[in-house]
Amino acid sequence: MIPFNYLGWAFKLFGKGIYPEWVFLALSKIVQDLKEEDFVLDIGAGTGILVEEANKLNKDPTYIAIDPAIGMLRFAPENIVKIVAKAEELPFKKEVFSVITVGETIHHIKDLNKAFKEMNRVLKPGGYLFVFDFDPEEKKGKMIYIFERLFGEPGNFFSPDELKNRLKKYGFESQFIKKDYRYVLIAKKINLSSLE
Ligand SMILES: C[S@@+](CC[C@H](N)C(=O)[O-])C[C@H]1O[C@@H](n2cnc3c(N)ncnc32)[C@H](O)[C@@H]1O
Repeated sequence: MIPFNYLGWAFKLFGKGIYPEWVFLALSKIVQDLKEEDFVLDIGAGTGILVEEANKLNKDPTYIAIDPAIGMLRFAPENIVKIVAKAEELPFKKEVFSVITVGETIHHIKDLNKAFKEMNRVLKPGGYLFVFDFDPEEKKGKMIYIFERLFGEPGNFFSPDELKNRLKKYGFESQFIKKDYRYVLIAKKINLSSLE
């Protein structure tokens, strides 16, 4: 397994480099209109790159970062609420969040069935799930997949089309932007019927 608990410093120094500007532009469209009463959850937040950027774009909502690795969260900004938790068991009531962000983390989650159900549960109807990840059908994406499998990681990589189809089963309707081996997928929670 990748020892994230000891890698917070490295992600703090170099982590932002993996995010091109167009990702933050896409993020701004999702968070710019949120209000003071809105809550935003960053799952697998690590050092909080996405939630920090979202907070710069709009200071009104409350931002919460969760990650199982306290050694990553320790480097997240002071003004963000930090909680040690996994995507598979989100310690929140249902329909709390207006937006969930998941950057470079879907492929690290072991039980995606549980995690997607949890994301649907805690999102408000009409809320958005914002995913940034790597396409394993592209050369660089495949190299990342091989590297992570060598480290014993789950390697749950999807092409954006595959992720879009999978998320449909969990009550989401998605659109995506893909550039080179990276993509942003924005999924809107439309219902819970497939889960009840
Ligand atoms: C590559 S880092 C990405 C961190 C951050 N989102 C970023 O973009 O820099 C992957 C993160 O996923 C976290 N992680 C691993 N398994 C997880 C799980 N089951 N639920 C939530 N986060 C998980 C790791 O601890 C790690 O911080």
